[in-house]
Formats: sequence, C-alpha cells, structure tokens
Amino acid sequence: MIITTINAKGGVGKTTTTMFLATVFAQRGYAVTVADLDRQGSALDWAERAEDGGNPLPFDVELSIPKRVDRQAALVADDEIMFIDVPPGDENAIEAAIA
Ligand SMILES: Nc1ncnc2c1ncn2[C@@H]1O[C@H](COP(=O)(O)OP(=O)(O)O)[C@@H](O)[C@H]1O
Ligand SMILES: [Mg+2]
Repeated sequence: MIITTINAKGGVGKTTTTMFLATVFAQRGYAVTVADLDRQGSALDWAERAEDGGNPLPFDVELSIPKRVDRQAALVADDEIMFIDVPPGDENAIEAAIA
C-alpha cells in the first residue's frame, strides 16, 4: 500500500502526519518505509534526530526524487506500506507521487 501526504502549501503538517502514521503502522507490525521526496529532507532529519537521541524510529526513511519514486513504489509488497512525504508546490513531485 502507498500512502502519500500532499498539500500545495508548506507547514501544514505533511511530514508530521507521515511520521506519526508510519510509526503507528510500524508499531502494529507492518513493514513500513518512508520515501522523503522533499529536497529539504525533513523526514530524514527527523529519523536522524531520533537515532542520535537513542530512540531510532521503527522504520527506514529514504531520500527520493520524483523520477525514482515510481520504481520504489513498484517494489512495495502487498503487506508493506510505503509513505511518500511530498514537498509543497512542486508539481513534478506531486505528479510522481500520485502516478
Ligand atoms: N496536528 C498538529 N498540531 C499542531 N502542530 C502541528 C501538527 N502537525 C504539525 N504541526 C507543526 O506544524 C509545523 C509544520 O509541520 P510539518 O509537518 O513540518 O509541515 P509540512 O511537512 O507540511 O511542511 C511543525 O512545527 C509541526 O510541529
Ligand atoms: Mg514537510
């Protein structure tokens, strides 16, 4: 399953929503990954801060780019969940994430 957080605006809670949902699903036993499509890498920063603080997140966060996300999504098994954290105002990324 693929779950994307999309909004044309920044600062509306996309990354926060992604990270909390990913945590809940991982805690419930799902294999979860987060693809961070935002060039600012906020989801990755979050994961690194958690790891540095001795509390690693229960899922991997990978940086991605619009042309690659398709391929990553195709590799997600039926019993896995990939979240895509989409940057604001980036038509390329939004189109790639919903394709
Ligand atoms: N449900 C919420 N309630 C209050 N503040 C929130 C909530 N979700 C996110 N925030 C705060 O809003 C700010 C922007 O959130 P963020 O997830 O980075 O947005 P986006 O990814 O859309 O740019 C952050 O400071 C975050 O802590
Ligand atoms: Mg964000």
